[in-house]
Amino acid sequence: MDIKKSEFTISSATVSQCPKDTKPEFAFIGRSNVGKSSLINMLCNHKGLAKTSATPGKTLLINHFIINNDWYLVDLPGYGFAKRSKTVQKKLDQMITSYILQRQQLVNTFVLIDIRHDPMKIDTDFINWLGESSVPFSIIFTKADKLGPVRAKQNAAKWMNSLKEQWEELPPYFITSSEKKLGRDEVLDYVGNILNE
Ligand code: GTP
Ligand code: MG
Repeated sequence: MDIKKSEFTISSATVSQCPKDTKPEFAFIGRSNVGKSSLINMLCNHKGLAKTSATPGKTLLINHFIINNDWYLVDLPGYGFAKRSKTVQKKLDQMITSYILQRQQLVNTFVLIDIRHDPMKIDTDFINWLGESSVPFSIIFTKADKLGPVRAKQNAAKWMNSLKEQWEELPPYFITSSEKKLGRDEVLDYVGNILNE
């Protein structure tokens, strides 16, 4: 899959505000600061397309980006950001949940995990919820440049192994770095295969 064109379409606070057309979309979700927006920019080779920040809590709406005039990448706010007020985080969680459960155009959700961290309950809870809700998803490990290639592979394998306790069948996973443009072809080929199905 080659990305020739990527443009911002719309920011939405509710599912009903999202684009009305029926083009397929791929969403990016994960804890605040895990690198969702950076990954979208890396995949599109388009600096500044999605807004990024060193401070967690940058993305606050559902952001649609139209790719090759044909399908969407969707940037979502992070879950589980402790420094936000409970009321604000609850609102964001509701926005994310209803988008994932109601959006019929959503063909795959990428769950992003910081490759340096051991499995955290908030991530495994979210993944288990996706599985129980029969939402198609895959896993993207981010910030692989922060570890050596061997450690990165080991950590990813350890993470996936921990999911085995809950699930017989594991989703596909990818090791990426937005900094070093690692994993771009793998993720885009995966997207291309789903679009061609
Ligand atoms: P929220 O929108 O706040 O939920 O965060 P996000 O998940 O969209 O993260 P964002 O892309 O804004 O990146 C957060 C921070 O991590 C920024 O300082 C990025 O520069 C940094 N970052 C993202 N990806 C990578 C990566 O692959 N390697 C390294 N070293 N830093 C990264
Ligand atoms: Mg973001």
